[in-house]
Amino acid sequence: MSLDDPVLAIAPQTQPTTAGGGMPPRFNCFVTGTDTEIGKTLVSSAMLHALVENGVRACGMKPVAAGAELGDDGKWHNDDCDQLAAAGNVNLLQSITTPFLLKEPAAPHIAAALEGIIISPVPILAAYVEINAASDAVVVEGVGGFIVPLNDEFDTADLAEQLSLPVVLVVGLRLGCISHALLTVEAILSRGLKLAGWVANETQADMAFADENVAALEQRIPAPFLGRVPRLEQPSAAAAAEYIDFTQLPNWPLQNAI
Ligand SMILES: Nc1ncnc2c1ncn2[C@@H]1O[C@H](COP(=O)(O)OP(=O)(O)O)[C@@H](O)[C@H]1O
Ligand SMILES: [Mg+2]
Repeated sequence: MSLDDPVLAIAPQTQPTTAGGGMPPRFNCFVTGTDTEIGKTLVSSAMLHALVENGVRACGMKPVAAGAELGDDGKWHNDDCDQLAAAGNVNLLQSITTPFLLKEPAAPHIAAALEGIIISPVPILAAYVEINAASDAVVVEGVGGFIVPLNDEFDTADLAEQLSLPVVLVVGLRLGCISHALLTVEAILSRGLKLAGWVANETQADMAFADENVAALEQRIPAPFLGRVPRLEQPSAAAAAEYIDFTQLPNWPLQNAI
C-alpha cells in the first residue's frame, strides 16, 4: 500500500464542501499547539463537547500518543486518548482512534524505536477514513508542537498535510509564546494548509502582560481568534468550551444540527 493508493485518497477539507445528496458539509479539523502541555487536548475535548451538544456524532482521533499505562481493565491507557474518547460520542476501538499508542512518554519516534515500531502514515490515514465513515465530525489532535518527527522522513506537519485538514492552533499563554505562535502559523501556511482559527489558553493564572500578548497575537495571526480560555479550577471540556466561539470555524455544524 502506498499513499497514492485510492483507498487512502482523502478529499481536501480546506474549503467548505457539500457532500452528495444535499448533506451539510462535514466539520473536521487538526488541532495543533505552540508546544506540548499547553492545552491541545483541553481545546480538542471542548470542541468535541460542543459538537456533541449540537447533536453531532463527533469523534476524536489522537493518531500517535506517547505515554501509556496499563489500567485495571487490562488495557493500555493514555490520558489524551481517554479525554478525547470521553468528550466525543462515537465509540470506536482505541486501535482505530490511536493507531500508534506508545508506552514511553517521549518524543514519538524515540518511543516507537524503543518498541521496535516504525510509525508510518498508512495505518493513520486508513484509520482516519474509518473514523470519518462512523461519524459526522472528526477532531484530530496532533502531538506536541506542529513539527514533531514520527519517523526519519515523516512528521506531524506532513500528517496534517496528508489529512488535508484545516488547522486550529492553540497558543499556551506564557513568556515566549508570541514567537512560538508566529513560527507555527508560518509553518502551517507554508504547507498550504488553512489556518481555521486560534485559541489562547491560560496555562498559568498570573502571566504578566497576558492581555498585551493576546493583542499582539490578534494583530499578527491571519485567522479568527476563537477565544481565550482562562486558568480553570476544573479544566473540563465543558468548562473550556464556554470560552471558545467555535461557530467561526468553517463548516461548524451548529446551523445544521438536527
Ligand atoms: N486553561 C486551563 N486551566 C487549567 N488547567 C489547564 C488549562 N489548560 C490546560 N490545563 C491543564 O494543563 C495540562 C496540559 O493540558 P493539555 O490539554 O493536556 O495539553 P496538551 O494536549 O497540549 O499537551 C492538563 O493537565 C490540563 O488539564
Ligand atoms: Mg494532548
